[in-house]
Amino acid sequence: MKQFTSVHDVTDINALVAEALQHKQNPYANQQLGKNKTIGLVFLNPSLRTRMSTQKAALNLGMNVMVLNIDKEGWALELQDGAVMNGTTVEHVREAAAVLGQYVDIIGVRSFPGLKDREEDYSEQVFNKFVEYCGVPIVSLESATRHPLQSLADSITIEELKTKARPKVVLTWAPHIKPLPQAVPNSFAEWMCKADVDFVIAHPEGYELNTDFTDGAFITHNQQEALQGADFIYVKNWSAYEPYGKVIKGHDDWMLTNESLQATNNAKVMHCLPVRRNLELSDEILDGPNSVVIHEAGNRVWAAQAVLKQLLDSLS
Ligand code: CP
Repeated sequence: MKQFTSVHDVTDINALVAEALQHKQNPYANQQLGKNKTIGLVFLNPSLRTRMSTQKAALNLGMNVMVLNIDKEGWALELQDGAVMNGTTVEHVREAAAVLGQYVDIIGVRSFPGLKDREEDYSEQVFNKFVEYCGVPIVSLESATRHPLQSLADSITIEELKTKARPKVVLTWAPHIKPLPQAVPNSFAEWMCKADVDFVIAHPEGYELNTDFTDGAFITHNQQEALQGADFIYVKNWSAYEPYGKVIKGHDDWMLTNESLQATNNAKVMHCLPVRRNLELSDEILDGPNSVVIHEAGNRVWAAQAVLKQLLDSLS
């Protein structure tokens, strides 16, 4: 693997999931592989899980880790080519990314969408500039339209916890007060459409995802119908793709409760976290026996470790 920016960089998803589970069994088996190799984790946005799990994965592989919160600690970045930089920006991404590439062997970048300009966000303007100019293998720590490390951890979790060969997996929209990116649902859909699962997406009218990510999914506006017989429920809010970044009021009843689970096959409930309690997901589910959100977050380490191992292999 030369880079990890989406599911399209993975040649065999099942093999990558199996490799991650081997790391979980034996975290320190490859301590020599990362010796004298450095990963730089560059954050343009906040993070708890991605930052800590990727650091832990790199340390397990014997790597050195450097973290830069470039939005707070770096110079204000200019992204536009040809810009006359006589305003607030101080350093062009061309130099910033290229210089970072001089200090590290692998770079990870987190860059959220602005949710104002769909073309700009879906062209992955910021992330792709790091890809273009850093000169070293890059791993997405969540970009404007995708969160592949999260989706790999989700795939690992489903593989570990499934009780039948082909489980029913439902991605359901959940309420929120703020417009959130489509990166996690896009990515989860993209991975599930390639997995050995029956995949259903449920959302209120107006929250259709970009069809580039949902080809092969059954899509419904009826949450209760979707939940019938579900083995896994993936709960996530996202803002509208069209009109872009908008929140449509009036769908508070889409928050799952224990009553919603009655029609399921005792479904395991997933969420990428962070989660707003009693807005996106009820206390009774998060604190109850069906929630696997902590287990899922734990698997972020093994997802990152499997990816970093393959990127390190490509360096040698
Ligand atoms: N799920 C996830 O990516 O969490 P963080 O934003 O805390 O990294």
